[in-house]
Amino acid sequence: MSVDALFQPYTHGNLTLPHRVALAPLTRNRAKDTIPGDLNVEYYAQRASAAFVITEGTQPSADGQGYLDTPGLHNDEQQAGWAKVAEGVAAAGEGKLVIQLMHTGRVAHSFYTGEQPLAPSAVTADGGVFTPEGQKPYELPREIATEELETVKGYYVDAARRAIAAGAYGVELHAANGYLLHQFLSENTNTRTDGYGTDVAGRIRFVVEVVEAVAAEIGAERTGIRISPGHPFNDIAEVDPRATYDALLTELARHDLLYVHVLETESYTGYSAVEQARAHFAGTIVANEGFSEEFDVDGAAKLVAAGTADVIAYGRRFIANPDLPRRLQEGAELNEPNQRTFYQGGAKGYTDYPALETSSVG
Ligand SMILES: Cc1cc2nc3c(=O)[nH]c(=O)nc-3n(C[C@H](O)[C@H](O)[C@H](O)COP(=O)(O)O)c2cc1C
Repeated sequence: MSVDALFQPYTHGNLTLPHRVALAPLTRNRAKDTIPGDLNVEYYAQRASAAFVITEGTQPSADGQGYLDTPGLHNDEQQAGWAKVAEGVAAAGEGKLVIQLMHTGRVAHSFYTGEQPLAPSAVTADGGVFTPEGQKPYELPREIATEELETVKGYYVDAARRAIAAGAYGVELHAANGYLLHQFLSENTNTRTDGYGTDVAGRIRFVVEVVEAVAAEIGAERTGIRISPGHPFNDIAEVDPRATYDALLTELARHDLLYVHVLETESYTGYSAVEQARAHFAGTIVANEGFSEEFDVDGAAKLVAAGTADVIAYGRRFIANPDLPRRLQEGAELNEPNQRTFYQGGAKGYTDYPALETSSVG
C-alpha cells in the first residue's frame, strides 16, 4: 500500500493542511516551573512540518497539574512562553499549533499543587504519581461542588483565550486517558447525583458544556477534543463505552469543531473507536493508535484513503524523528526513540534527534 493518501492536502471549511501527519500530544516534563522556555521553543520548531503541532498536556489552572514541569496556561508568564513557541513554529513551518488543555483531576497531587485534587467524585485512583521524592500514592480527591463547575469550566475558557492570544491556532480539550474530563465520562469515576452523572446524559454533560463554552469563546473551528473510549489508563473502567461515546459524539457533531481526535481503543472495547467517531462526526477526525501498537504506516494510509480518518497523529515516532512527515513520504529510515529520556531532562532525547540532511545527494 502506498503512503500517498497521507500526503494529500486536506481542506475543511477554512482549515487547510498540506498533508495528514500530525504530532500527537506528548508530555515531556521540560517546562521549568511550568513556563515554556527556549528548549521547548526549539523542540516544537523542529517539528513544525507536522500538519498539527499538538502540544503536550498543559494545565489550564494551577490545580490541574499532576506531573513535574508540565507547562501551564493560566498566567501571563506562561502565555508569553507559549507565544515564543508559536513564533518559533510559525517561522519554521506550516504546522498549526494546537495547545492541549489537560486538567489531571483526581490524578493531580498536592505535591505539585499544594492542595487536595479536584474530581467529579471522591474516588481515589489506584496507583501513584511520580515526584522527585519518589512515587507518592494518589490522594482522595475532593468532589467539585455543583456551583463550582462554572469555575472549572472557566479554567478551560480562560486558557483557550490565552492560547489564541499567544498565537496558537487552536486548543485540544483533553477528554482522554483518565484525566479530568474523562473522569466525568466514566462510570467508575463519576458517581454524581446532581445531573452531571448517574446516566449517559449526565456523564457527558460537563464535557459538552466545556466544549460549548470554549467554542463560544474562540470559535468551534479552533476547538478540538481528544477522546479514548474505554481506555483504562489512570484507573478508568468504562462499563459501556459504546453508549457513552455514541451520545457524546452525537452532541459534538452539532458543532463544526476543529477536530475530534480519537485514540483507537479497539483492543480494549472490541470495536473500532475511530469508526464510531466517523459514524457520528462528519468533520475532521484525527486518529492515533494509542499505546497498544505503533500505527502501521500502511494501515494509517488506508484509514485516510477510506475516509475513516482525515489526519493521523504520531507520538513516539515523532519524538525520535523531528522531520517525520518527510521521512514517511520518502520511505527513509526512522530513528528509534529512547524511552529513558521521554520524561524530564534537558536537550538529550528531546532536541538532539537528527533530521535528514536538507538536500540528499543524487
Ligand atoms: C512520552 C509520552 C507522553 C505522552 N503525553 C501525552 C499527553 O500529554 N497528552 C495525551 O493526550 N497523550 C499523551 N501521550 C499519548 C500519545 O499522545 C499517544 O496517544 C501514544 O504515544 C500512542 O501513540 P504512538 O504509538 O504514536 O506513540 C503520551 C505518550 C508518550 C509516549
